[in-house]
Amino acid sequence: MAEKKTFYITTPIYYPSGNMTIGHTYTTVAADTMARFRKMQGYDTYFLTGTDEHGQKIEKKAAEQGVTPIEYVDKIVAETQDLWKLMNIEYDDFIRTSQERHTRIVQKIFRRFYEQGDIYKSEYEGMYCTPCESFWTPTQLVDKDGQKVCPDCGRPCQPMKEESYFFRMSKYQDWLIEYIEAHPDFIQPAKRANEMINNFLKPGLQDLCVSRTSVKWGIPVDFDPKHTIYVWIDALSNYITALGYGTDHDGLFQKYWPADIHLVGKEIVRFHTIYWPIMLHALGLPLPKQVFGHGWLLFGADRMSKSKGNVVYPQPIVARYGVDALRYYLMREMPFGADGNYTNESFLTRMNADLANDLGNLVSRTVAMIEKYFDGVIPAWDQAAAEPVGDELRAHCAQLPHLVDEQMDKLQFSQALAEIWKVVGECNKYIDQTQPWVLGKDAEKKGLLGNVLLTLAECVRFVAVLIRPFMPSTPERIFEQVGIADEALKTWESLERFGALPDGLRVRKGEALFPRIDVQKELEALSGKAEKKEEKAEAKQEKKEQKAEKKEKKKAEIPEGCITFDDFGKIKLRVARVLACERVEKSEKLLKFRLSLGEEERTVLSGIAKFHTPEELIGKKLILLANLAPRKIMGIESQGMLLSAVKVNEDGSETLRLLTADPIMPDGAEIG
Ligand code: MSP
Repeated sequence: MAEKKTFYITTPIYYPSGNMTIGHTYTTVAADTMARFRKMQGYDTYFLTGTDEHGQKIEKKAAEQGVTPIEYVDKIVAETQDLWKLMNIEYDDFIRTSQERHTRIVQKIFRRFYEQGDIYKSEYEGMYCTPCESFWTPTQLVDKDGQKVCPDCGRPCQPMKEESYFFRMSKYQDWLIEYIEAHPDFIQPAKRANEMINNFLKPGLQDLCVSRTSVKWGIPVDFDPKHTIYVWIDALSNYITALGYGTDHDGLFQKYWPADIHLVGKEIVRFHTIYWPIMLHALGLPLPKQVFGHGWLLFGADRMSKSKGNVVYPQPIVARYGVDALRYYLMREMPFGADGNYTNESFLTRMNADLANDLGNLVSRTVAMIEKYFDGVIPAWDQAAAEPVGDELRAHCAQLPHLVDEQMDKLQFSQALAEIWKVVGECNKYIDQTQPWVLGKDAEKKGLLGNVLLTLAECVRFVAVLIRPFMPSTPERIFEQVGIADEALKTWESLERFGALPDGLRVRKGEALFPRIDVQKELEALSGKAEKKEEKAEAKQEKKEQKAEKKEKKKAEIPEGCITFDDFGKIKLRVARVLACERVEKSEKLLKFRLSLGEEERTVLSGIAKFHTPEELIGKKLILLANLAPRKIMGIESQGMLLSAVKVNEDGSETLRLLTADPIMPDGAEIG
């Protein structure tokens, strides 16, 4: 069997100086999507990410918090790994530059450079940007308000002088220019190659200062330990140390190097296309096939960054809308390579339009119609029923894997998704054209209707397979609804033929894939307004609860046998005039009263026949407990209770009298 083609992709290793933002997530999702895509296509894929933990910035941050650098980074690394798990990132390895497997080999590499004369010792005098960990020549610095600032971040640089080791970059300059020109795919997008050649290489490469004596948190030069290896030499090496380069166990390195793609943000293309190729060349190693410099995710007009404090984090978005919605948005919204703006509004609008409307509706309509017209079973293709309207759609869908592959080859994630959504849109249009609900009314059109629905189901399957790398969990939900359990129908190879979907599968209507959202409401929620509203409601509720608690406490202070004022307030006593009164048949005790409460009349039974005769009570104004729940006595409903006083006589017998009210009180007068 022929060996599988390999595919090695990396992200930059991120600084764990603060938590990862939606910007770092952007690169990582892109790399993951690409890795998943190639894996689905059958490549033997290796996907590496990690953290770049050394340097002055981390040293400072840790000191500010009163912890050691490793304690500081351990925490952020754990959180980073949690975030990648949340984002469904399937990396093969996570390298940390603090790991021994890395530091040992970086020392070895550095020694080799020194021994072969690529590195020499001298004294450095120059301008240094601490946040970027970059040295700049005077010509590279930019003027800002009379100050010379870092061309990358715009912050002031400090003059620095120290004994250092230098890498003879200048020696490799001409070779590199030639290499870049001879390999047009090496730096992508192509305009970045021109930037590198015109801005850095042609003006002449300076020898690079590659050690610091002022930085302690880093990898020491093993033959001169007061020197710490420059972070970029340390960091760039990760792409090979992770594969076991320079060890006896370098199987991964042999298998996967050179990398197919280093995915990086445009601000670090320079390091990856100048220093890194020169390092590799000096080591006698082949260069990565491609360095792709993607654009920035901006927030407003600004680059999102921890140091600027205008950062969006992915977790709240994922918690509210799910990982797939965010992954889709990141890959769809801006062409890979260009800058783009992140706004909550564009995210929510896309979610509604592309996911809830276009994709969600297509799936739910298709499944619902198969349920309605074919009892939920996907029909077989009916040769006798010509269905020419869908010819174009079927041909287009059959071509779709190829169209997507073409875009993915160029890392044009957004275009690849656009191709898929073109078919989604066409399917929805096809439903409107063929009007299955009209065909469904005509028994003779059953075959045609079946062909329409089968076409739709197969298109849905194609779409579900093709979005797998972008949205890892949504396709399963689609397969479930369409009744596809066979793994062989979920593969890239299964898309070789349009029409591989077998008949007889049972569809199952499920929940909406992406429920429509109220953009305005969600905007409020994301901007925190809704939270404030919720907070207010919560505060109100809390007050209420406190009040109730106070009440409870008060209650607890009430002496035994007493009731509270509130308790008494529950009792409704009214003046009731006796309209009629009679004995209840077969009862010795009961009298039946008809009472007037003014606007209403009541029937009440009372067990007082031994103490009062009915006649003496007629016209009397008695006192009625008016809100006692009605109850039936001897088949008659009694709607209240008449109050009485009881006296126990000397012989133990009782005398009872009904309580009466002052006759001037009107019927129904409230007592309290
Ligand atoms: N540690 C270096 C890279 C060393 S690689 C050998 C570094 N780390 S970083 O934490 O600053 O991460 C930078 C990378 O994160 C960028 O190159 C980019 O891929 C990604 N992004 C961080 N914020 C971003 C945006 N706002 N927009 C797009 N990508 C962003 O540089």
